[in-house]
Formats: sequence, C-alpha cells, structure tokens
Amino acid sequence: MSQSETAGLYPPTAEQAARAHADKETYDAMYAASIADPDAFWGEHGKRVDWIKPYSKVKNTSFAPGSIDIKWYEDGTLNVAANCVDRHLKDRGNQTAIIWEPDEASDEAQHITYQQLHAHVCKFANVLKEMGVSKGDRVVIYMPMIPQAAYAMLACARIGAIHSIVFAGFSPDALGARVNACGAKVVITSDGAPRGGRVTNLKDNVNQALRDDFNEVKCLVVKRTGQQIAWRDGLDFWLHEMEENVSNDCPPEEVAAEDPLFVLYTSGSTGQPKGVVHSTGGYLVYAAMTHQYTFDYHDGDIFWCTADVGWVTGHSYIVYGPLANGATTVMFEGVPTYPDAGRFWAVCEKHKVNQFYTAPTAIRALMGQGNSFVEKYDLSDIKVLGTVGEPINPEAWNWYNDVVGKGRAPIVDTWWQTETGGHLLTPLPGATATKPGSATLPFFGIQPVILEPTTGAELTDTAAEGVLCIKDSWPGQMRTVWGDHDRFEKTYFADYKNYYFTGDGCRRDEDGYYWITGRVDDVINVSGHRMGTAEVESALVAHSKVAESAVVGYPHEIKGQGIYAYVTLMNGVEPSDELRKELETWVRSEIGPIAKPDLIQWAPGLPKTRSGKIMRRILRKIAEDDFGSLGDTSTLADPSVVEDLIENRMNRG
Ligand code: WT7
Repeated sequence: MSQSETAGLYPPTAEQAARAHADKETYDAMYAASIADPDAFWGEHGKRVDWIKPYSKVKNTSFAPGSIDIKWYEDGTLNVAANCVDRHLKDRGNQTAIIWEPDEASDEAQHITYQQLHAHVCKFANVLKEMGVSKGDRVVIYMPMIPQAAYAMLACARIGAIHSIVFAGFSPDALGARVNACGAKVVITSDGAPRGGRVTNLKDNVNQALRDDFNEVKCLVVKRTGQQIAWRDGLDFWLHEMEENVSNDCPPEEVAAEDPLFVLYTSGSTGQPKGVVHSTGGYLVYAAMTHQYTFDYHDGDIFWCTADVGWVTGHSYIVYGPLANGATTVMFEGVPTYPDAGRFWAVCEKHKVNQFYTAPTAIRALMGQGNSFVEKYDLSDIKVLGTVGEPINPEAWNWYNDVVGKGRAPIVDTWWQTETGGHLLTPLPGATATKPGSATLPFFGIQPVILEPTTGAELTDTAAEGVLCIKDSWPGQMRTVWGDHDRFEKTYFADYKNYYFTGDGCRRDEDGYYWITGRVDDVINVSGHRMGTAEVESALVAHSKVAESAVVGYPHEIKGQGIYAYVTLMNGVEPSDELRKELETWVRSEIGPIAKPDLIQWAPGLPKTRSGKIMRRILRKIAEDDFGSLGDTSTLADPSVVEDLIENRMNRG
C-alpha cells in the first residue's frame, strides 16, 4: 500500500490520468473556466448535442425570491431521440446500443444495435400517435426493465410527449395518484414483470389503478410473460398488434430547449410527491456531459448502471446520458442476489463491462455474502466503479475498491438528486484523488456552498459544516414542480434566499472535499431511495385502526436507513403481532414494498409540545437507540410518554 493510501487518499495512477478525458490540470482549468464565465463554458459544451435550431442565448436563470426562473439554451430547438439514436446511425448503426440482460440468468441476453433501436423507437412513436398522443401530452410508463421501457421513453421524446415513469414497485394507488397528478393520456405497461424469479402482475396493477374515474386513460401493453391478463375493452392495446399497422417512418418533432422532457415524482417532506420537471436541452447536455466525464466513458466502452428506469439514475445514466454519447448501455431486468449473490459479477464478466455503477445498499448486501461470489468471475475489464444514492461507509467503499476493483478501478462516489438531473459532486477518475466516503469535489459549473443552518450565513472557511446549497444554476437543474411553480420556490428557494437548497447536511474538510451527512428534512433514505416520512404516516393513519403515527429513520446495516413507525391505535384496539403484519401489508399496498416499515412500535402517546407539534428529534433519538441525550424535554405537554417509548423501543443495539 502506498503512503497516500494509508492516509486515506487514493490518487489516480499516471496511466488512469493519461487515458482520461480530464486529468487534474484539465479538471482545474475547466472548472475555473466554468465558474468564471458560465455563458462561454456552457455555450461551448452545449454543442455536444445536435440542435435543429442552434441557440443564441445560453444562460438565463434567476434564484431571486419571487422570480425563480431557470432557462438554458432557451431559443434553441432539438429532439432528444434524434440525439440519442438517429445521429449515431451514420457511424455506429451496427454498434450495440443496448445490451439487455433478462431476469433469468439462463435466458439469452439481447443486443440491440443503434439501427434496430431506431426502428423500434420510430414504430413505438407512431403507435403513440395512433393512440392520440401528441406534443406536450403526458404518458405514464410503468414497466419492468426491458428494452421496451427505453423505446417508450425515446418514443415520447421523439414526438415531444412528456413521460412520467412510475417505478414498477409502486402500488396501484400510488400509480393512480401519479397518473392523475400529471393528467396522463396513456399508461404504458407490460403483462407481467419478472424480477428475482417472481412475477408481478403489472397489468393487474394498472387495472386497479385506473378502476374508477379513469375512463379516458388508455393503456398500451407490452407482452413480456404471456400470462393471462384482464382487458379493459376499447381502452387497452397490445404494442405488437398496434405495431403491425403503423409505418417505420417517424420524423422527430422539433422541440424547444425549455419544453419538458419528463416529469418524475419524488418524495419530499410533505405527504404529496412532487412532480420534478426536467427540460429537453439543458438536461440532455448535462446528462451526456456528466456521463462522459464522471465515468470517463470512451467510445467502445460497455457501461452498466444497475438502477431502474423508475428512478432518475436510470433516466440519466441508463438511457439519456449514455445514448446521447453513442455508448453501449446495459439494462438489467433482475436483482443482485438472483439466482445468487454473484449475479452482478457474472453479468460484468459476460458483457465485459468497463464502467459499473450501483448503490451502497447493494454493495453492503453483497459484501455480507462473502468474497467468493466476486472471486469466481473475471472482472479485469472494469475501469471505473461508481456509487450513488446515499453516503457510502468506508468499510463498503474499501470492499468495493479491493475486492471488486482489485485496487485498479477508481471509485466515483456521485452525489446528486432527482432535482439536479445529473452529478453535482463527484470525483473524475483521472483527476481526483478520492477519500472513502466523500463525494469529493464539484462538477463543472457547480458552486456548492455550506450555510449555517439557522442564520443562513455562508460559511467561507474551507473547513465547515452546515447545510448544502448551490449558488447558481446548471443546465440539468429541474425547472419547476409540475403544475405548481409556487411549490418549487417554497421547497428549494425559500429557506435560504438566493440559493438552491438541497435538503442535505454537509461537511467540507480542510482540503475542500465535501462529505454528505444526510438529509436535514423529514426525508429518509432507504436503500438509496427517497422516502417522505409524511407519506408513510398518511398511509398508516388511513388504516381504520390507527389513530396517529410518526415515522422516522434509524440506522440500518444494509439499507442505510430503515423505516421506524410509532403507531398510536384507536381507542379499544389491542396491539398484536397480527395487527403489525396487517399494517405492514397495508403500507405495501398503499405505497409499495419500499415503504414497508421495518419496525413498528405501539405508542400509547407521542411526545408533543403544548401546541401539539410532534417532537421528532426525540423520536429519532429513541429509534436510534440513543436516548441518553434527549435534550430538552421540558416543553413537552406530557413528558411521561417518553419513558414509555424508551422502555418499549424496538431497536436495541
Ligand atoms: C438524495 C437524493 C440521484 C440519485 C439517486 C437518489 C442522497 C444521493 C448520494 C451520495 C450521499 C447521496 C442525498 C440526496 N444521495 N447520492 N453519493 N452520497 N448521499 O436520488 O431519490 O433524488 O435522492 O440521496 O441525501 O439528497 P434521490
């Protein structure tokens, strides 16, 4: 081990720096240029995308109270599908665009070339038109991880329709709420969705979601499993049947840079998920550029991001970023532990993956299964390892580095959010010396600041700790909350004026490296997925036996954070293990399996102030099994409830 490694600093090797798009000098120079003159910098880098009508303006953004307005390349026009598909046909029509790896390891993988992708997307787009979808209409995609999910996204982009993907793990109710919220005309789904050897009846879920009040919403169904499904006559259509009657030709629609490309619902600190709106031009430039630099992607590389297209990671780094760059992108239908804990590594070996991108929760789960699952496979093609979704603990980082990367592959710990469109804090493989657990330094154009949480004062010393805000806009930034611009301003620009507030706590060390310390709002991070505690609470109180509930996060070995629910039952209802199961099932069906509480504690009362506000700080401490320092409880209406909660706590370390 070199000296710097023992000091916890992992610099790129000379060879890594030499082959990279950016070594340290290049990064420093480009970063400085991006801050000194954003118009010049992004004006130049906007050219990585093909424009129908080139832009003459670059940046036009305001974080000023009352007039939050974000526009990039506003007078340019383009088409995202043309950029992700058509423009590659000349030079790489026969190159694989998508490698699809199915759930069953014994089933054959598919290799879809750019030429084939073009044909699929054009047909799919014509089917959507045939179903009455046109520019600006919303289309909900509720699909397994199959190539048709990517075709659906690109087909929407091709005709200027706005897609809103709902993760296939969400329940019918959650799906219906999102269809309703964005006013979708069509839902695209499949008959069934195999995952980890089990099949979810997706079409059934759609039927339930659309059971009342949705008589106008059509459904387009991809045949994946061939299982029996119930049909809504006159409203449901098979993709393969529709495709028989449409032409191959579908010219891409001219779309303005600021027209929305997609809406993606994400959790916040209130009960209602927010529809995060991303633009067409700026988003594509940012997704493509971060994909190239963060992963040091080169022509011919095989790139694999293990996320689901239901999350922003799948949008930016399975589909839009890689395909805009003419990459070969792997799409995986299954889970890391099926048929066994070696699946990721088997797929890496089989497809000779060069850049591998996953979440700390998966790394921890696989680390727990032992090294033999990794050591069986030849991973010598891996050049870069990425992580995303939550802070990675040094133990998992080291395992990823030593056992998976054999110390040869730089780790890029990428910090970003659904709202940011792409990476904001990240190492670059040939440029940045990494430190386990730190997302290191800003990407080009990003100005992170640390504010004192209560006063909002900017902390200017290099070493500082507080809340993380961003000082100025970048092209991939979300533009608004769907249908509620006011909420956009309230959520991200009201607490700290003139800054974008990320919701994360952060420490900057003496080298200027950033260390995310976790959310400072009522959002918890479960297996890298964002969960609003308020959402779980409203699901719980919707149950007839529940009077009140408070949900907090607690440290969980694999998931990062687990969901801890305090539940007060209705008068006369007796707590029981069956009731606990019933509530778990209830939350699964209200939101989805990812929202199921890990621990439910029966709470005769919740700690409240005299004005009735639940003191979550206390509940968090008890859930963390750290009740020695509860702080001031004197303002509680009834301090005795705290003793009962401590006495009966569920998480005993
Ligand atoms: C929140 C955003 C955007 C990708 C997936 C999650 C946390 C994300 C990191 C990281 C520490 C991270 C933050 C952030 N987060 N990446 N590398 N290190 N924390 O997207 O659901 O919008 O959640 O995930 O808390 O605010 P998301």
